[in-house]
Amino acid sequence: MTPAAFSPVLPLSDGNVIPQLGLGVYKVEDTVASTLVAGAIEAGYRHIDTAALYNNERGVGEGVRASGVPREEIFVTTKVWNDRHGYDETQRAFDESLELLGMDYVDLYLIHWPAPEQNRYTEAWRALVKLQEDGRVRSIGVSNFKSHHLNRLRDTSDVLPVLNQVELHPWLPQLETRTFDRSLGILTESWSPLARGRVLGNDILDSIADKHGKSPAQVVLRWHIQLGLVVIPKSNSLDRIRENSQVFDFTLDVADVAAIAGLETGERTGLDPDDHG
Ligand SMILES: NC(=O)c1ccc[n+]([C@@H]2O[C@H](COP(=O)([O-])OP(=O)(O)OC[C@H]3O[C@@H](n4cnc5c(N)ncnc54)[C@H](OP(=O)(O)O)[C@@H]3O)[C@@H](O)[C@H]2O)c1
Repeated sequence: MTPAAFSPVLPLSDGNVIPQLGLGVYKVEDTVASTLVAGAIEAGYRHIDTAALYNNERGVGEGVRASGVPREEIFVTTKVWNDRHGYDETQRAFDESLELLGMDYVDLYLIHWPAPEQNRYTEAWRALVKLQEDGRVRSIGVSNFKSHHLNRLRDTSDVLPVLNQVELHPWLPQLETRTFDRSLGILTESWSPLARGRVLGNDILDSIADKHGKSPAQVVLRWHIQLGLVVIPKSNSLDRIRENSQVFDFTLDVADVAAIAGLETGERTGLDPDDHG
């Protein structure tokens, strides 16, 4: 029997909801994605984050079907890549993603990066608005958008993104982005929530983990949850996927949160959005 979903859901400004904790599948091979996604769903995950760039949408769709859990109980996000911005081009890219996923809608479609050199993300956004109007996407949002990119969307569209997925972890807590997103009713989602595993392995996280009888990864994921963020850790191991889900049975106290704040360095694991052509 499939375990019950473990994650609470958070409201989106369009009336939909999103499970707060999901599985990220960047760098998961298409051939492995099916087994991993089905295993994660069996472990209680109900939210999968993929992208056209990851080349595993086919495997993700297979995994969702193989899990036996009804499609409408799983929240699936995918993203349009930078070279497919444009009103018609983005809709074509979406058709291809949907075909690979083997689905008739996605829950959340994101513009992966603003790709400022191309200067076409407002056109891509118009396409997302159309896809939502057509009922092919439940919710629409962006990724790696800074306040000036969001302001440009606000100048050109009446529809605001419901969510902004950005690099966010204890090294890079993104206070300014979180505050700006919140002021517009946009939910912030953390990508690379473990800084690709690199934030682990330090004395502060180890001692907080020991205190709660948890792993350092669980402490970091709990920190995201308590900040009210959507969080999508990735792992290729089903054991770690299960471990990463067990973050709803303890609470970080004020001293823990203050100690984690001391880890901020501003260091990114990925590119600055203004430099991602
Ligand atoms: N929108 C964007 O531009 C963007 C960019 C990057 C990522 N993302 C999304 O965010 C998701 C997560 O980010 P990410 O994959 O870059 O990094 P991440 O989730 O921060 O870290 C993944 C790394 O941590 C390791 N790990 C996972 N759980 C662990 C645990 N419990 N203990 C120890 N190590 C653990 C994994 O190793 P193993 O796999 O060996 O377990 C992997 O090397 C991606 O999969 C993707 O969906 C979005």
